[in-house]
Amino acid sequence: MVNIYILTLFPQMFEGPFSAGLFQKAVERGVVKVDIRNIRDYTHDKHHTTDDYPYGGGAGMVMKPEPLFEAVEAVKNELSQQGIENVPVILLSPQGRLFTEQVALELSKHTHLIFICGQYEGIDERVSEYLATDEISIGDYVLTGGELAAMVVVNAVVRLIPGFLGSPDSLLSESHTTGLLEYPQYTRPPVFRDWAVPEVLLSGNHAQIAQWRREQSLLRTAKRRSDLLAKANLYPEEKRFIQRLETSVDIGVKEQ
Ligand code: ADE
Repeated sequence: MVNIYILTLFPQMFEGPFSAGLFQKAVERGVVKVDIRNIRDYTHDKHHTTDDYPYGGGAGMVMKPEPLFEAVEAVKNELSQQGIENVPVILLSPQGRLFTEQVALELSKHTHLIFICGQYEGIDERVSEYLATDEISIGDYVLTGGELAAMVVVNAVVRLIPGFLGSPDSLLSESHTTGLLEYPQYTRPPVFRDWAVPEVLLSGNHAQIAQWRREQSLLRTAKRRSDLLAKANLYPEEKRFIQRLETSVDIGVKEQ
């Protein structure tokens, strides 16, 4: 069971992704609990101000630190009363460390996680420096706010929690868990518009199927993401397979 706290100015953005498909089932089964809080509820002035002009000038507005500190402290105090301490406070921002399956695995070990979604052109630096314990970016591009990034991170983390997926085996072979891209998958019909399913998959020979899949993973990773291959844990035989690929003519050709 993981408890996710999300601090945002746009709680309504989370209604879709968290109330459909596998995620919703996980909520219903009690594998995950999501608590979405409006940062605006932690302001005290008449206009519920959450942003202000940047010191030093420049375009855009900056999120004020006070409501964010108050919101995080409110959650932490509630948890503290239940004896729960040292909860990670994760700020989503394009300046954070890059999110990967490895980071998702790391976060999935915690029972409680607090996410702060920034808006506007920036967040007062004291939030990153003195409130957040971690800062995560989902990629080298800029979104209008941290909400979509929080959804991505929470989705990837929650599906790693035991009990989330029907079969734990589905985690073992998929892209990025193994350090390689996943092999191609097929279902019926065996021939669709003249495109046949590779024969080996219909053979019933499990050893041959396993070997074909591993080779396809290696081939696909070599063609599309050679950066991943360099880091992957390969058997000597697999390294030789890759070396043979690299000397063959078609390896430089990008897959369609
Ligand atoms: N907020 C804006 N852009 C972002 C990104 N790339 N990752 C995480 N949070 C963000």
